[in-house]
Amino acid sequence: MTSLVLVTGGTGTLGRLVVPALRDAGHAVRVLSRRARDSGDGVDHVTGDLLTGAGVEPAVDGAEVIVHLAGGPKGDDEATRNLVRAASRAGVRHLVYISVIGADRVPLGYFRAKLGAEQAVAASGLPWTTLRAAQFHDLVLKVVRQMARLPVVPVPGGLRFQPVDARDVADRLVGLTLGEPSGLVPDLAGPRVYGLGDLVRGYLAAAGRRRPTLPVRMPGKAGRVYRAGGNLSLEGADLGGRTWEEFLAERLR
Ligand SMILES: NC(=O)c1ccc[n+]([C@@H]2O[C@H](COP(=O)([O-])OP(=O)(O)OC[C@H]3O[C@@H](n4cnc5c(N)ncnc54)[C@H](OP(=O)(O)O)[C@@H]3O)[C@@H](O)[C@H]2O)c1
Repeated sequence: MTSLVLVTGGTGTLGRLVVPALRDAGHAVRVLSRRARDSGDGVDHVTGDLLTGAGVEPAVDGAEVIVHLAGGPKGDDEATRNLVRAASRAGVRHLVYISVIGADRVPLGYFRAKLGAEQAVAASGLPWTTLRAAQFHDLVLKVVRQMARLPVVPVPGGLRFQPVDARDVADRLVGLTLGEPSGLVPDLAGPRVYGLGDLVRGYLAAAGRRRPTLPVRMPGKAGRVYRAGGNLSLEGADLGGRTWEEFLAERLR
């Protein structure tokens, strides 16, 4: 049966992978974005802003399922509360949310906002599914590229990551969207654990660049939580198949 799926964040890194897959699975797809875009190819674009609430009611109108992928460095809790309010009134039958591994542990604003957003989803009264994913390869590449612009790259010691490919996250989310509401499902991390220094050096080698690295210490409570692996999911997580090395080889080809 064809149902209308609203994808918030359908224009982002993850959303651009999820939207065509849902359309190809036979759904009518509506994408909410802050900027006007042309509709076509079985995807309808509507304009709205989850932080101000503008355009959110018409965006959710008629949607049976919402896949909520919109996010930014700040305000995901507030944006999600605005979405949930409108979705509850519209009688949505499944709300799917993407969060981040460590949302309940890492004492940084982004993670706190993701936890607030998770709580808004769970308290919405709507049937829901939330997936916590690790950092996407695309984000890690952006960060290490930025770091490698310095003549000497400072690398906070003891920080580890399990980067995951956005394509693996998209596949998982599409499966969850097509299935029944499942609450908080097992985390999705990448197939390997890397020190931040390994990620930087892997990038430098793949890019054919040389830079010395300098060990530094990440201060404060956040540093302690990271060093203790609070951003990792080492037990019970599902693992994506694509590695950081494969991603780098494709991207830097
Ligand atoms: N990147 C990661 O490593 C990672 C890891 C775990 C979880 N996540 C979560 O996965 C989701 C997608 O991440 P991504 O990397 O694909 O993000 P992204 O590429 O930065 O895209 C962000 C998306 O959110 C939309 N958006 C931002 N603010 C909005 C607002 N106020 N109203 C409506 N739409 C808004 C943007 O749409 P327009 O610009 O078109 O308006 C865009 O489509 C986010 O919730 C993020 O927290 C990401």
